[in-house]
Amino acid sequence: MTWLDLGPVDAIPERGARKVKTAEGCIAVFRTEGDAIFAIANACAHKRGPLSEGIVHGRKVTCPLHNWVYDLETGEAQGADDGRVATYPVRVEDGRVLLDLGQVARAEVA
Ligand code: FES
Repeated sequence: MTWLDLGPVDAIPERGARKVKTAEGCIAVFRTEGDAIFAIANACAHKRGPLSEGIVHGRKVTCPLHNWVYDLETGEAQGADDGRVATYPVRVEDGRVLLDLGQVARAEVA
């Protein structure tokens, strides 16, 4: 695994996100109320709306363009037949957010 240090948890707004640019595309890293951290592809499966600019509620995010709602744990869109975005492993260690870049590359190949 290749863990990328994204900085402190507090650098991500609560119920917000930050966008991480990778060679394989942008990833949205979310912080929920209660400080759970999730990483999913930034581009919405509908028309590539920026999910990092969406509204975080519970463990979900609503796309800012047409309101598809994604589960941050599974990447599944609710209320859509085939809406899904990739999810990526993240963990918090000593208050810092770590993203598994090795998994990012594998996800793009699969
Ligand atoms: S682009 Fe996200 S719901 Fe349309």
